Amino acid sequence: MKVLLINIQELLQVRDQPPQKLRGAEMQHLPILRNAWLLLNKGLIEDYGTMEQPPKGTFSRIIDCTGRIVMPTWCDSHTHLVYAGNREQEFIDRIKGLSYQEIAKRGGGILNSAQKLQQTTEKSLFEQSFKRLEEVVDMGTGAIEIKSGYGLTVESELKMLRVARKLAKKYPVAIKTTFLGAHAVPSEFREKKERYLDVVCHEMLPRIAEENLADYIDIFCEDGYFSVEDTERVLSEGKKYGLVPKIHVNQFKSIGGVAAGVKHKALSVDHLEVLTQADLDALIGSETMPVALPACSFFLGIPYTPGRQLIDSGLPLALATDYNPGSSPTGNMNFVVAAACIKMKLTPEEAINAATLNGAYAMGLSDTLGTITRGKIANVMITKEIPSYGYLPYSFGNMNIDQVILKGRVL
Ligand code: NIG
Ligand code: FE
Repeated sequence: MKVLLINIQELLQVRDQPPQKLRGAEMQHLPILRNAWLLLNKGLIEDYGTMEQPPKGTFSRIIDCTGRIVMPTWCDSHTHLVYAGNREQEFIDRIKGLSYQEIAKRGGGILNSAQKLQQTTEKSLFEQSFKRLEEVVDMGTGAIEIKSGYGLTVESELKMLRVARKLAKKYPVAIKTTFLGAHAVPSEFREKKERYLDVVCHEMLPRIAEENLADYIDIFCEDGYFSVEDTERVLSEGKKYGLVPKIHVNQFKSIGGVAAGVKHKALSVDHLEVLTQADLDALIGSETMPVALPACSFFLGIPYTPGRQLIDSGLPLALATDYNPGSSPTGNMNFVVAAACIKMKLTPEEAINAATLNGAYAMGLSDTLGTITRGKIANVMITKEIPSYGYLPYSFGNMNIDQVILKGRVL
């Protein structure tokens, strides 16, 4: 099935020899082909060029992209898309003055979602999650990472990851899964955190590895959740089973988790709303991708990750939604890109690089996704008629994505 896109006003992120990731000043450069064509064949990007030299041959389908932008689909490297129910009541409690941490202390927050999930069947969890996945793909997401962490029992953590793996089987979007058993200490283990970590390390991890349910290992390294010591323990155990670390860190406090993540060669360190010079120093020279989650900052009213400072320090940056029922009930990467420009002072070029190639890196997918490159997977999207790519973050909250193509198939 050869699909040809013609008269493309701007074909974004075209790289013949793409790097694994972009850092510092490199992020300012977004390569563009104007008045372009793009040929997709057998699920891959076959070729591209300008309309002055159109491709020859026969095609199963030709799509006229006059006035439109074509670009790689978003790579959302941090989500909790598999969850049960919602937490609107906590949202209202926060409007009325309670903080996210206060709600968690009262047994709300992650524990509230865990209770809901434990009571939900695998079938229903799959259905709820599938609906969310379809919605985010409609908004242009073509690769997504999904975490466990609302199960908090052996069976429920396995249930979440099985659902995530099943989504990957049933839908053409690229999915990576992360085991986040150490997301919160369940109430049955209050004051017995070590015992819960024993369950995570010696009961959950072996089962997850046996069924090959996860690619990554994660932990919520934060005051009131898990310490740096806990983080080192869980990451070390995960690595024994071949899981690569990706951690939640510095959402509210800097307690040394960033350096611990770098020490354990984490693929990414995510959140970073609070960032000290020591955290920055730890990241410099490492291969770890800092990931900002501006929709979480927006929803909770907490500081935004200092993305400008990270990039100006020569570091890379990826953007993700953190889609979850408590701190970011949206999976809309278009909003995330806009918020990064508006609130973190990223330029549109930097934000688009952060949400495509660097997002792919944070999921170990740079070799196959994130850029328009011959031989990469044909996950691309077509915008509505818009004046230029800068319009994407500018017209925040509007839906500018018209068509999504996954593995060369027009959805
Ligand atoms: O990434 N911070 C930890 N975990 C999630 C939110 C969890 C929740 O509130 O349900 C996050 O923000
Ligand atoms: Fe998260």
